[in-house]
Amino acid sequence: MIAWGLLYLCFIKKQRLYNQKVNLPLLKNNGIQLFVKREDQIHPFISGNKYRKLKYNLAMAKTEGFDALLTFGGAFSNHIAATAYAGFEHGFKTIGVIRGQELGSKAYNATLSFAKAHGMELYFVDRTQYRTKDSEEFVAELRSKFGNFYLIPEGGTNALAVRGCEEILEQQDADFDYVCVAVGTGGTISGLINSLKAHQQLLGFPALRGDFLPSEIRKFARLDQWSLTYDYHFGGYAKINRELIEFINQFKQDTTIPLDPVYTGKMMYGILDLVHKGYFSSPAKILAIHTGGLQGIQGMNQVLKRKKLPLLA
Ligand SMILES: Cc1ncc(COP(=O)(O)O)c(C=O)c1O
Repeated sequence: MIAWGLLYLCFIKKQRLYNQKVNLPLLKNNGIQLFVKREDQIHPFISGNKYRKLKYNLAMAKTEGFDALLTFGGAFSNHIAATAYAGFEHGFKTIGVIRGQELGSKAYNATLSFAKAHGMELYFVDRTQYRTKDSEEFVAELRSKFGNFYLIPEGGTNALAVRGCEEILEQQDADFDYVCVAVGTGGTISGLINSLKAHQQLLGFPALRGDFLPSEIRKFARLDQWSLTYDYHFGGYAKINRELIEFINQFKQDTTIPLDPVYTGKMMYGILDLVHKGYFSSPAKILAIHTGGLQGIQGMNQVLKRKKLPLLA
């Protein structure tokens, strides 16, 4: 059944992305080869893991005859921006339930302006109500307000999203020893885990504080060769300091690879710090997944400007 939805969507075409080699003295001196899988280049507006997570969900929504998608997110959410564009591109009405009632009366930031410009109806709720987003009562209230819709959870993570993320690693990636990825809700890492080869280890870099992740990941992951390192969240979700900004800007200058400040910047900072500390046994070949998120740079720069911090290049 779902295959018909897939055929309908041009999403079905096989994406081939390249692994870009990172050449830095630190890596050479430690006998480490590092490559970045440029999933950020998979689509201009539905980039990285968003593309993978939405692929089978859009197909299912189409197959089941829905004409609207509803999802949840914060003001800078990559997932909100990607869902808005996916709806725009594939003919779904979209509704974004946004955390923070106060945001509704302010000028929209770059992410929310983008979502609105691509047809997303924004519905702002306060933080207490937002916490009830998974409850049947709240979803029923949303259905009575917006009519019937295909519900995509916060961050886009569900079983179909994990299935999409199982397609990130390809045959050509079998010779990597380690795969590294940033972690938010745990969907992307779960898909990657399920497609690891027996000799590969997966290291996840949570972008937020909290110990809920292992149990979330175990809901979807079928293999055990993974671990999380909690040392690189920089104080929590979307927290950023001068050191991280300077790292991201320098990394882009040295490698041409842009990183986002919320997820991939923290992951890459962590990978290079672990190389420095001798965590990876040499010689090792590491594949870091670029999960996108670059749309968030503009909004983050608005915040950095207010805080009189350097801007992201
Ligand atoms: C750019 C980026 N990288 C990584 C993640 C983490 O993905 P997940 O929520 O599946 O753990 C997200 C969140 O969706 C993201 O936007």
